Amino acid sequence: MITSPSGKLIVFEGIDGTGKTTQLSLLARALSDRGLPVVSTREPTDGKYGKKIRELYRNRGSVNLQEELELFLADRREHVRELLGPTLQAGKIVLCDRYVLSTVAYQGAAGLDRDEIMAQNSFAPIPDLALLFQASPETGIARITGKRGESPNDFEQVETLTRVAEIFASLDQPYIRRIDATGTIATIHESVISAVEHVIKQYQSR
Ligand code: TYD
Repeated sequence: MITSPSGKLIVFEGIDGTGKTTQLSLLARALSDRGLPVVSTREPTDGKYGKKIRELYRNRGSVNLQEELELFLADRREHVRELLGPTLQAGKIVLCDRYVLSTVAYQGAAGLDRDEIMAQNSFAPIPDLALLFQASPETGIARITGKRGESPNDFEQVETLTRVAEIFASLDQPYIRRIDATGTIATIHESVISAVEHVIKQYQSR
């Protein structure tokens, strides 16, 4: 994988219902308030492949595992080419909701080889930091069904999420920082701020 040239790439990872999307917008606001140039984005994206992926949520069995992986990779290639690459080149801080480690954990949990998934992502810039939000699958599902008033989609069943969580727990990339996602929004935000501080310092002393 290539590293990001002058910007910084901070990705938010973890099982569904850990509150990472809320934390991403809180961090985006905190960094903008400090006058830093922040761009927020997410995967699956809102592009053509991302849209196809969202259709899969309702009926995951409609494609095989390899085709599912190809869709996530095609979405990421487009994302890197059109947004992540140019924004990092322009020296900005990118916050991305889900990235390569989600593919390793989710498509790995579905049965694909994790090392191969990693190798197939060699085109994607290595994050400067991956915040890995940790909560139990039961907590995650309860948050999805309770607060959001949604029913879990095909990626969010408890057995699946348990396997996904196990893979996340086993990852040891040097850029991972684990965040306890069981507290309140405010305490989790504090942990996020302290986890990103070294990246922001590096960024400011470029
Ligand atoms: P999610 O962040 O929940 O998107 P939204 O809030 O828009 O529904 O991500 C959607 C699902 O896609 C999630 O259950 C995890 C799954 N996913 C993968 O299986 N592989 C991947 O590479 C990515 C990025 C997501």
